[in-house]
Amino acid sequence: MTPIENSGAAKLPVRRGGKAARIAVIPGDGIGKEVTPESVKVLRAVAAPAQRQMEFIEFDWGADKYLREGVTLPAGALEMLRDEFDAILFGALGDPRVPSNQHAADILLGLRFKLDLYVNARPVELLSDRMTPLRDRTENDIRLMVFRENTEGLYVGVGGFFKKDTPDEIAVQEDVNSRKGVERIIRYAFEYARQNGLKRVCMSDKSNAMTFAHDLWQRVFKEVKQHYPEIESRHLYIDTLAMELVRDPRQFDVIVTCNLFGDIISDLGAQLAGGLGLAPSGNIHPGQTSLFEPVHGSAPNIAGKGIANPLGSVLASAMMLEFLGWKSEAMALREAVKSALRENFVTPDLGGDKGTRAVGDWLAQRVARYAPRAA
Ligand SMILES: NC(=O)c1ccc[n+]([C@@H]2O[C@H](COP(=O)([O-])OP(=O)(O)OC[C@H]3O[C@@H](n4cnc5c(N)ncnc54)[C@H](O)[C@@H]3O)[C@@H](O)[C@H]2O)c1
Repeated sequence: MTPIENSGAAKLPVRRGGKAARIAVIPGDGIGKEVTPESVKVLRAVAAPAQRQMEFIEFDWGADKYLREGVTLPAGALEMLRDEFDAILFGALGDPRVPSNQHAADILLGLRFKLDLYVNARPVELLSDRMTPLRDRTENDIRLMVFRENTEGLYVGVGGFFKKDTPDEIAVQEDVNSRKGVERIIRYAFEYARQNGLKRVCMSDKSNAMTFAHDLWQRVFKEVKQHYPEIESRHLYIDTLAMELVRDPRQFDVIVTCNLFGDIISDLGAQLAGGLGLAPSGNIHPGQTSLFEPVHGSAPNIAGKGIANPLGSVLASAMMLEFLGWKSEAMALREAVKSALRENFVTPDLGGDKGTRAVGDWLAQRVARYAPRAA
């Protein structure tokens, strides 16, 4: 595993510590095309004073291209991303004109699976007290990291139909769990806790009902935790975790779980911390090209209206900067987002009246206050 720096707030593994980075930008569909340019704007603003060189190369992969050319992920795309880019900044995919969601499966799941981005890191961090729907909870009460296994489980697409479209139809979807896959995500969670001085790791499954797949999770968890005696390890069934997260989120530092449960529980976490518009995520393979995106989708219901909240994408960009080893710049982005929340310079989903572009412009200006300068 790539070394993780050990000081202060929770951080992600460093891929590169250099002055330059090459970023592939895939805005995708819907509001992905609106929020991603705002992130690029803010990234340029934070990189300039530190004389960091960030090169952004945009790719138009998404529903329009699919409908026009029948192309989802072009031939050679994976190799190019892996060999020529440090990171990928991703918007969202999903378009009502493509009900099968084929292009999204090929592009996003294709990148996650084929670049082997096995860690889906979804921080749940309350940045402003007034954003949580929980009564009497403050910023100090809601700060945890969800690690979702990102390459296996029910998302691998193994299954099929029998007697489709008849009254006797049967649909089967397999839950695929490899020892290697389970072990590396659990180990990553413990390693992250250790290297960030966090004291508690909770593994969540449904081993009482999923007696094969999640029995493997149980056995691997027991093995791995022995190597981290200083960390308090705990197991909760996923239904109990859902309740406990709402009842008292202070109980958790790091949560690790499978692909499906991680998808759901991190959305619950997103709501605890202010909603989908604020939630970032990283799809990571330590030491290799990794992908950063807001948790939200393409939101067709508000696409084109200029009101999408860009903060989730900007916070995902901060995770990307951490991954690149640019800690101070990442911090500057977070501080700028916090001040937007404090000063209520936000989009309607957060109770404000500002547009996507206005928030992006404001952040690009504000980030200069916090940005590190070249020596
Ligand atoms: N990673 C991804 O690309 C991703 C993730 C989730 C959903 N999707 C796709 O997105 C499409 C829409 O899915 P959905 O409606 O279930 O989820 P969604 O996240 O797009 O939207 C859910 C709700 O949250 C609101 N919302 C989301 N992001 C927002 C933002 N930044 N600012 C303000 N409001 C925001 C939307 O308006 C909507 O009411 C579907 O095609 C789905 O498959 C893609």
